[in-house]
Amino acid sequence: MMAAGHYPVLIEEAVNALAVAEAGTVVDATFGGGGHARRILGELGSEGRLIGIDRDPEAAQRARLLAGEEPRFVFRRGAYDEVLKEMVAEGEKVDAILFDLGLSSYQIDEAGRGFSYVQEGPLDMRMDPESGASAASFLNEAEASEISEVLVRYGDVPPSEARRVAREVLRRRPLDTTLELSAAVRAATGWKERGGNPAKKVFQAVRAYVNDELGGLSRALEAAERLLVPGGRLVAITFHSGEDRMVKRFISERSRECVCPPELPVCACGARPTWSKGAVLKPSTRQIEENPRSASARLRSALRTGEPPQLGSPLEEFS
Ligand SMILES: C[S@@+](CC[C@H](N)C(=O)[O-])C[C@H]1O[C@@H](n2cnc3c(N)ncnc32)[C@H](O)[C@@H]1O
Repeated sequence: MMAAGHYPVLIEEAVNALAVAEAGTVVDATFGGGGHARRILGELGSEGRLIGIDRDPEAAQRARLLAGEEPRFVFRRGAYDEVLKEMVAEGEKVDAILFDLGLSSYQIDEAGRGFSYVQEGPLDMRMDPESGASAASFLNEAEASEISEVLVRYGDVPPSEARRVAREVLRRRPLDTTLELSAAVRAATGWKERGGNPAKKVFQAVRAYVNDELGGLSRALEAAERLLVPGGRLVAITFHSGEDRMVKRFISERSRECVCPPELPVCACGARPTWSKGAVLKPSTRQIEENPRSASARLRSALRTGEPPQLGSPLEEFS
């Protein structure tokens, strides 16, 4: 079932990759509009359990409504890395975890949240408006070099363009609204014939920085390694190259098989793969036509092996 306002991306593919068992315990780490969550509940039997997470206050309201009518569903508000880490500390074990990263259409379409580069709104961009510094605080206080570094690192903005945008931001500050930032980007880069509005990448970068999206994802993947039972499934739908690279690298590095020659009686290369890599899926042309926002989506999945979690990670204290 589709949530009104947000069109869940790759929903059938995600549910298949999660391999939801009737009595399973599943985590939806990015509840959003609840589209994936409701579909997962449809797969779970009466003994099954779904734990939803989101840091956004409006997603939390929607989730609490669902929790009120659905005993198999519980909701925990917070950043997913923190909630997953708490669950590890509580000794919880789960069968599958879904991350459907980025923003929901509710967040993008509501001008007041400051995520849209075409609608006027306060320059905020925090998924949880009660936590951390807003986009305006960052852009109005940071050095030009910090701003251009963020644009390159989190938005794949070419370095020379990032430097021009940063200088223009400094020249125009204080910036208070989304359209002021869009105008600064336009003044620094001009309109491009191809490749779309250059403000898109700049907004993406600032949003990822303000919400510590890559740091949170990295810590959440570490926690997932500790939470999933052997045979448990990790499924991540990404929308940007930075987060996709992070998921891809995490799975690839930890699914490396033993490369010792077969005549060796015991493994000497030290390979202890904690994951077995699944297929990478993209939306079909038809899915993209129905929901253009899904165009850049990539679904990556992996199966947890029986090997103990890797040591030396930031979550070692919980292992
Ligand atoms: C693409 S939407 C999820 C849509 C959802 N799967 C659905 O079908 O409606 C992503 C959601 O994840 C939440 N989110 C993103 N990063 C988060 C984080 N680090 N911690 C908690 N929630 C996060 C956002 O607030 C947003 O509601």
